[in-house]
Amino acid sequence: MRVQLWQFLWAAIVILLNPLQTYAVKEYLFKKCDQSGFCSRNRHFATEVTKQGLDYNSRYSIDLPSLIIKDDEGYFDAKILKELNDGSHVDLSLHVSLLSGNNLRFQINEVNRKTEQSLIQDKRYDEASKWAFVKEPELIPFQHELSSDQLILTYGEHYEAKFDFHPFKLTLLYKGVPSLIVNDRNLLNVEHYRTRKQEDEENSIHIAPEESTFDAYKDSFKDSKGDTLPLGPESVALDFTFANSLTVYGIPEHADTMSLKDTTDGEPYRLFNVDIFEYLTQSRLPMYGSIPFMLSTNSKHSSGLFWVNSADTYIDIKKVHKVEADEKKVIPEETQSQRVQTHWMSENGIVDVILFVKDSPHEVTQAYASITGNTQLPNLFSLGYHQSRWNYNDEPDVLDINSKFDQHQIPYDTIWLDVEYTDERKYFTWEPKMFPNPDRMLSKLAETGRYLVALIDPHLKIGYEVSNVVEKQNIGYRKSDNSSSFHGHCWPGESVWIDTFNPAAQSFWNKLHAVGSNFMGQAQNLFPWNDMSEPSVFDGPETTAPKDIIHYGNWEHRSVHNLNGLTFHEATYKALIAHNNNIRPFILTRAFFSGSQRTAAMWTGDNMAKWEYVQASISQVLTLNIAGYPFCGADVAGFFGNPEPELLVRFYQTGIWYPFFRGHAHIDSRRHEPWVAGGEYTDIMRDTIKLRYKLLPLLYTEFYKSSQVGSPIVNPIFFLYPEDEQNYDIDDEFFFGKSLLVKPITEQGQTETLVYLPDDKIYYDFEDYTPYQGKGYHSFNAPLSKIPVLLKAGTIIPTKQRYRRSSKLMKFDPYTLYLTADSDGTASGELYIDDGETFNAQNDNDFSIE
Ligand SMILES: *[C@@H]1O[C@H](CO)[C@@H](O)[C@H](O)[C@H]1NC(C)=O
Repeated sequence: MRVQLWQFLWAAIVILLNPLQTYAVKEYLFKKCDQSGFCSRNRHFATEVTKQGLDYNSRYSIDLPSLIIKDDEGYFDAKILKELNDGSHVDLSLHVSLLSGNNLRFQINEVNRKTEQSLIQDKRYDEASKWAFVKEPELIPFQHELSSDQLILTYGEHYEAKFDFHPFKLTLLYKGVPSLIVNDRNLLNVEHYRTRKQEDEENSIHIAPEESTFDAYKDSFKDSKGDTLPLGPESVALDFTFANSLTVYGIPEHADTMSLKDTTDGEPYRLFNVDIFEYLTQSRLPMYGSIPFMLSTNSKHSSGLFWVNSADTYIDIKKVHKVEADEKKVIPEETQSQRVQTHWMSENGIVDVILFVKDSPHEVTQAYASITGNTQLPNLFSLGYHQSRWNYNDEPDVLDINSKFDQHQIPYDTIWLDVEYTDERKYFTWEPKMFPNPDRMLSKLAETGRYLVALIDPHLKIGYEVSNVVEKQNIGYRKSDNSSSFHGHCWPGESVWIDTFNPAAQSFWNKLHAVGSNFMGQAQNLFPWNDMSEPSVFDGPETTAPKDIIHYGNWEHRSVHNLNGLTFHEATYKALIAHNNNIRPFILTRAFFSGSQRTAAMWTGDNMAKWEYVQASISQVLTLNIAGYPFCGADVAGFFGNPEPELLVRFYQTGIWYPFFRGHAHIDSRRHEPWVAGGEYTDIMRDTIKLRYKLLPLLYTEFYKSSQVGSPIVNPIFFLYPEDEQNYDIDDEFFFGKSLLVKPITEQGQTETLVYLPDDKIYYDFEDYTPYQGKGYHSFNAPLSKIPVLLKAGTIIPTKQRYRRSSKLMKFDPYTLYLTADSDGTASGELYIDDGETFNAQNDNDFSIE
């Protein structure tokens, strides 16, 4: 007994003495699947259905007489009947359309839904695509073959979509091989509208024996503060099988490995935008943004799926190795091989899915981008180095940091101001003593071609001119009973939130960003940083807005949650275009959804100054590139904590390869600008940042290509070598563009590493041109000053070699090309040049050399 007490005390003392113990995510703040009504119900349903196996009689079937097929127009409609316990049906609609590029879209909705309340819309939320898509997709014609139990569509040269009527099932074949199977495991579940009374009545016809009613009308999670769940259970769920594959990727944002894990014995991956303070690596907890796009590949072809739903979503993944059929078990032929089974569950909304099947992962990501948009072509300055901290205190501090970069001959483009630059955290104001003359400070920065980025968040402190307008004009979030604006707590204390789903909010937002406004003044080198738009609500459930509050259009927050950040930074984008319609806006966002890549850069939020966050950042950046969001990066050298010099240096050596490259630090962290460590460390960081600037022409060219075709900028090895299954899990090495192979050092004390060469070409050490050759792993020396970077034979890359204080001052510098001949004596590369900041080139003729 005594020993145990002693041990307990000892543990308590260790916790008290170890300052790192204060850095731990409060996991209990976030719902686990079994604490979430809809997730728990759908997992229960999956377990029950799976138990019954082939004996299970699915309740969902396509109603043959209802079929209307429009081959020439590219779509068909049908009813899906959901059978209730007494044999009666609930009608669902099925709309299937074929999109140009041979992508297949299908939508399942509940028809004639009439609910017993008058505040929110009766119909299910069906507008996620309106925000996520870059434009309405064009449809293409198909041929069809109809029998009594099956409809087969053929289109493109190689595609076949087989719809089985009972049970509902879709098998997508590419070049004769099944690639994606929808409702393969009969996990389709659309919780149709029923009243609580109907559900409670004894022998309810609405609740099937395989269903659970857990938390259908109340939310028992401790911090949910009484979610009223006015529409009861309304989730949608469906399963998708990726045939002939064991790997799946995508669905950012998580701080996990690039290759997604089997979730059978643990938590599903969750997509729910939250302000996750001190997040963990190797975790499936939700983070700040959501892209419900998943990709799978094998050596022959690749497929992807886009689940167009903005509600809280969980995804289960099960990897199935090859099974042989025997007399007892009949296994459908198309599943007698390895496959990945996925189960998607959303709290509400409709089933709206686009399926992509192509020859390579590159084509799948590009097809996804053809729907949601390519990355913007950034204003060139935003590809330089950004120096941020919470907080640079005042104008003299900002100008001192600015001149220290020159003193130490380190290039940089942008200095950042976090929340404390405002007067009492009221956005669109400047703290009058610290920043008495922002125009003066900004023109001083402009002298060396530099920029300022300052924080603008969606929460607005109550009782000042900006929030007063929001309340008076009713352009904020509304309380769940719609009686008045929703109030909650954030940085300034009690606040209201601007509702950027509301078109009426836009003209007010434009005014706040106008030339001559209190925030923007006369400056042309000031851009906003849009943070906290998950939204972060300090006193809200799971640190966000209650799900039952109301947005414009009488939609519950529940339905639109994951879109909120996108609507916010899009409103800012439009306001900046209104401010100056020929300058490419730069906005940084933390919250995002599919489509955010069109108008904002993102960063991965509040990471830590620890080695595992350097490692995690690479797989995070690779995953975002896979999911069509290449303009991304992580805070260098960790937001929380104080990096020791070795970690600091290695973090910079990793960070220069992020498409968005920013140094940032928490208010309690010591300053660690590149000159602070001094000596050898500063010398290495200077060289590292200079290497980024040398490579700006290459990076800018890659961005141009991505803005045209939706390709990744930082490529996982498997993206360029999908035929080689050996590299499918490599997420610590990547191609920057398609010619530079990079393997940053991400472990303490490491001075040697193994670099995987994915083919038999010659790769040259980018520093001393030592050649390496032979597919497989090669040992590589990497003392602290060295980043393993190899230039692939047969490529040309453009650089600019002269040191300048900022990218703007490099404008007229000469280009230096690196050429490496392939075995046949040829080399190729690309260079894109324009003025770096206006839309002129996009409007006229591009100037590019190939
Ligand atoms: C909710 O309140 C807003 C603002 O007063 C109003 O425009 C809207 O029509 C109300 N919604 C309903 C369903 O009453």
